[in-house]
Amino acid sequence: MTDDPTAAAIGSFRDTPDERLRTVLERLVTHLHAFVRDVRLTPAEWASTVDFLTAVGRACTADRQEFILLSDVLGVSSLVETVGAGDDPEVTDATVLGPFHVGASPVRANGDSIDLVGGGEPCVVAGTVRAVDGTPLPGATLDVWQCDHEGFYDVQVPDRQPPGNGRGLFTTDDAGGYRFRTVVPAPYPIPTDGPVGDLLRATRRHPYRPAHIHVIAAAAGHRPVTTHVFVAGDPYLESDAVFAVRRSLVREFTVVDDPDRAADLGVANPFRDVRFDIVLERTA
Ligand code: BEZ
Ligand code: FE
Repeated sequence: MTDDPTAAAIGSFRDTPDERLRTVLERLVTHLHAFVRDVRLTPAEWASTVDFLTAVGRACTADRQEFILLSDVLGVSSLVETVGAGDDPEVTDATVLGPFHVGASPVRANGDSIDLVGGGEPCVVAGTVRAVDGTPLPGATLDVWQCDHEGFYDVQVPDRQPPGNGRGLFTTDDAGGYRFRTVVPAPYPIPTDGPVGDLLRATRRHPYRPAHIHVIAAAAGHRPVTTHVFVAGDPYLESDAVFAVRRSLVREFTVVDDPDRAADLGVANPFRDVRFDIVLERTA
């Protein structure tokens, strides 16, 4: 019997052997109860919240994770990345993984193209992977994936893009450098055909993400980083539907009109040139 459900629910975890689990659950109940009191949540509102979460669960399949999408549009995925990061400002900022990283990307050599279709604006992305002290990291891997110039990932339009389009797994050279050819990605909407889409419509929020290229950079003895490079000037940089833009990750995709350089790099002229250096933190 209790007149204080908050104290009783918090106290119910006192014998949890895993200390971290106990802390997380106690704090979760503390904040949830404070939220219920704060907004004076009604039984009808709680019932419709449960219906909504049930619909989110039902929308999940082997290929779709609506709960992660919900976490994305509430800014939780982005916040978890921020909270989990170290505090060295030199280290490349992490941001959300998103749902379109689908297993191993095709292994490609430096200088290769990840664009298997054509039709977009040609673009060369290059940079180095190094440690915080400036040491280049040869043999680091860069797993990259992006949508095409119309805002679609290969897995969304299998009739129009072959598997592996817009994807590649690169390894840095002896100087820690990498380079690949691609097309300039476009802004695109996150999936809105499920309950998360209903939430966006009910709150008059747009579903767009600013144009970006995803990267997971990893090197032995270093903490891997899951990040993006964003296209400077994109109209959605200030209103990303999943709150994943970090100022430090925005780059100019500079127009280059230089037929000799284009020929050297194996792209049509003119093309866009992007430099994206990555700094990793040592693990020990
Ligand atoms: C993405 O960038 O691929 C993405 C991230 C979060 C939600 C939907 C898409
Ligand atoms: Fe994306």
